[in-house]
Amino acid sequence: INWYPGHMKKTKEALQKNLKLIDVVVELLDSRIPFSSKNPDVDRIIKDKPKVVVLNKSDMADPSKIKIWQDYYESRGIKAIPVNTISGKGVDKIIQECREAMREKMEALVKKGRKERAIRLMIVGVPNVGKSTLINKLAKRKSTQTGDRPGVTKGNQWVKLKGDLELLDTPGILWPRFEDENVAMNLAFTRAIKDEILDIETLALRFIEKLEDIYPDNLKERYKLEELGQTPLETMEMIGVKRGCLMARKEIDYTRVAKIVLNEFRDGKTGKMTLEVPSDFEK
Ligand code: GTP
Repeated sequence: INWYPGHMKKTKEALQKNLKLIDVVVELLDSRIPFSSKNPDVDRIIKDKPKVVVLNKSDMADPSKIKIWQDYYESRGIKAIPVNTISGKGVDKIIQECREAMREKMEALVKKGRKERAIRLMIVGVPNVGKSTLINKLAKRKSTQTGDRPGVTKGNQWVKLKGDLELLDTPGILWPRFEDENVAMNLAFTRAIKDEILDIETLALRFIEKLEDIYPDNLKERYKLEELGQTPLETMEMIGVKRGCLMARKEIDYTRVAKIVLNEFRDGKTGKMTLEVPSDFEK
């Protein structure tokens, strides 16, 4: 998806229209990048609707940092639930929290002599955060098309869930804070946007630079390095040598090293990592 202003306006209008039909918003974030995978305007768009935050792909994230994000949301009165949508871990908790978010309102309805009705949910999130996978998991079916590339979500129906909930089959796809260079990097590292924002060698260098800063041990362990290089470039070359990414005359094949480093992170092989914490943004 290319988020030019016209597209953003249309998406926002569609979401506002759907919002009229729903009780609770389920905002999906990527546990590895909870800030970068958040739409900057979502809270303004959904206004005072109850919201449950899902920290998805928790299987690939750093448990201690997930906890920091949960506390951050908790202090703002919002439940943040770590979920692995693929295994289903944490998915039931989403349903539970959505019911909890609506409990008082439903009790008030019953008190007024009205019949309790189904609670209606909608999932929102930036591309590739796992919306379709979660819808399929909640609905216990495998029909919606999913793929590890942005912009393939389709559908449009209410799906009945257990516990008297109904889920809108169409998720709200929102734009990320793409104007922020760091955010764009994080999205590219996690494959939420295409690599083409930068050449892959530069992207990998920036990634190595980040890991040298926040997860040096993961980097050393994965690539069996005694020490890191003096510069990210040097570290990248050391990884290249370790992995035999050499061309004629023993020159480093930087493209190959870049692909190895990025893909191994994306496949979770470099360890459970979360690339940002709330204090990074509270300056
Ligand atoms: P768009 O259609 O682009 O908006 O994407 P989406 O938000 O619907 O994401 P989708 O469900 O297509 O998932 C994107 C990729 O993330 C897929 O490769 C999923 O298999 C993967 N994925 C989703 N949830 C998880 C999770 O909890 N853990 C892991 N490891 N991968 C996940």
